[in-house]
Amino acid sequence: MIKPGSDRNEGSSAADARRWNARYQQEGQDWLLRQPHQLLLDTLPHLPRRGIALDAAAGVGRDSRGLAAHGLQVVAADISLVALRLNQRRARSLSLPISCVNADMSNFRLSPGSCDVIVNFYFLERAALPMYRSALKPGGWLIFETFVTGFDDLPHPDYYLQPGELRAAFPGWETVSRTQEMIPPTEGHGLRAVERWVARKPAG
Ligand SMILES: C[S@@+](CC[C@H](N)C(=O)[O-])C[C@H]1O[C@@H](n2cnc3c(N)ncnc32)[C@H](O)[C@@H]1O
Repeated sequence: MIKPGSDRNEGSSAADARRWNARYQQEGQDWLLRQPHQLLLDTLPHLPRRGIALDAAAGVGRDSRGLAAHGLQVVAADISLVALRLNQRRARSLSLPISCVNADMSNFRLSPGSCDVIVNFYFLERAALPMYRSALKPGGWLIFETFVTGFDDLPHPDYYLQPGELRAAFPGWETVSRTQEMIPPTEGHGLRAVERWVARKPAG
C-alpha cells in the first residue's frame, strides 16, 4: 500500500506532481531499467546492513532497490504516485523491503534519530535539509548527489546547489568523500557541475 504523506501542500507541489506523473507515464519503464547510482554502489560496502534508509524523491526506486538488497528497510518518498506504483510493484516482485510514501519533501517529517542512511539523488528541496539533519542517527550516513550552479546563468537557479552550500548546511559533519564533475553545456542548460557528497553525522 502506498501511504499518503502528511499536510500535502497544494499549489506548486501539485503542479510538480502532475509534471512528474506525466513524465513517468511516458518514461517510467525506461527509468526502471536503471541501476543504482555509482556513488551508492561505491558506498554500499561501508553502510550498515540493518536499519532504516530514506530514499528522498526516490522516483521509481533505482536506489531504493540497491539499499533494500543490501539489507536496509527502505522508506521511498516521492511526490509522484505514478513513480511510487512502479517502485512498489517492482519491490514486491523482488520481495524487497521498500515502503512507498506519497510525500512532498518540503513538509515530510521523520522522527529524530530514526534513520541510519538518507540518500538524495538529483533532487533539491532546501526545506528538507533540517529534517535530514535531525532524522539521521548519530553516525548515520548522508549520500547526496545533484547539480551545482555558480558557473553560468541557469534557467531555474533554485533547482541547483550553490558551490559550498551543501557542506554549509551540515556543519561539523564528517566528509567521507566529495567530488565535483563539470557537465558540458547542453541545449537548455548552461555550464553546471554535479556534486557528490558522502557524509556522516557527528557521533556524539
Ligand atoms: C530527477 S528525479 C530523481 C529521481 C531519483 N532520485 C533518481 O535519481 O532516479 C526527481 C524526483 O523528484 C520527485 N519530486 C519532485 N518534487 C518533489 C517533492 N516536492 N517532494 C518529493 N518528491 C519530489 C519527482 O517526482 C522525481 O521522482
